[in-house]
Amino acid sequence: MSTSHIEEETVTYTIDSGVAWVKFNRPEKRNAMSPALNRRMLEVLDALEFHPEVGVLVLSGEGSAWTAGMDLQQYFRDTEAHGLAGTRQAQRESYGWWRRLRWYEKPTIAMVNGWCFGGGYGPLFACDLAFAAEEAKFGLSEINWGILPGGGASKVAVELLSFRRAMYHAMTGEPIDGATAAEWGLVNEALPLAQLQARVAEVAALLLEKNPIALKATKDALRRVREMTYDNAEDYLVRAQEAANSRDDSGRHEGLRQFLDEKRYKPGLGAYDR
Ligand code: ACO
Repeated sequence: MSTSHIEEETVTYTIDSGVAWVKFNRPEKRNAMSPALNRRMLEVLDALEFHPEVGVLVLSGEGSAWTAGMDLQQYFRDTEAHGLAGTRQAQRESYGWWRRLRWYEKPTIAMVNGWCFGGGYGPLFACDLAFAAEEAKFGLSEINWGILPGGGASKVAVELLSFRRAMYHAMTGEPIDGATAAEWGLVNEALPLAQLQARVAEVAALLLEKNPIALKATKDALRRVREMTYDNAEDYLVRAQEAANSRDDSGRHEGLRQFLDEKRYKPGLGAYDR
């Protein structure tokens, strides 16, 4: 299916030194996620997932927002005008790319430059790591317009926050700033907006040094074992490592060789030379 020029512009990206910098690009609408943006984002993720020049994907927003959540006009009001079929299609399109991002082949980083509301918690959680501007504002604002935090947002809140904080956050709809989001565990770190991109580039560079197959196995493992018993997790991890070995059996041997035989590096302090 062809994509219109306007739809195409809802997401932009550039590739630089192994990093795909992807941006929500509806700054005039605070990067609210419209059906067009959701469709386009899936196409962009498709294009980048196995791109040979991409080792890490960073998701940020153009202008003052990361994303102001679902587009209340186009995602809710307009699609509801088409009945349940319209609603379900819009949900498939948004949940679809968030799910895709949760299990993405490459490591992913949310670079939250500004507003992040409601539905924005889907892609926020989907990214493996998250860094925010101290100036950013996060909120489960659903309650402020009369709905519950759906589309996974309630699940994200209880996954990432303490139960009491999640309840307060969801029931009051009160926004918190980036520093509080870091303190609460919604993001890894918060720093002044002016320093945000440099810090994310530094973390991306660190990830680029690692074995990519081990990284994919690691990020999947951490998401999977959250819902397992200890014994099931132990078993899953043995099998996941063996599956990773079948894709790359030389990496770990090389890592051991450089440490044990060549005494060239210390695994406790950094990655082996790939
Ligand atoms: N859906 C649709 N349009 C939006 C959204 C949204 N989520 N957020 C902003 N816009 C539009 C505004 O309607 C406005 O459009 P207009 O210029 O055509 O009138 C434009 O973006 C700019 O918005 P302002 O409100 O003027 O921007 P400001 O910087 O002052 O405020 C803020 C930003 C705080 C993000 C505000 O726009 C807002 O509260 N947006 C809604 C946030 C929200 O609750 N999102 C839904 C979460 S629930 C869910 O996702 C399921």
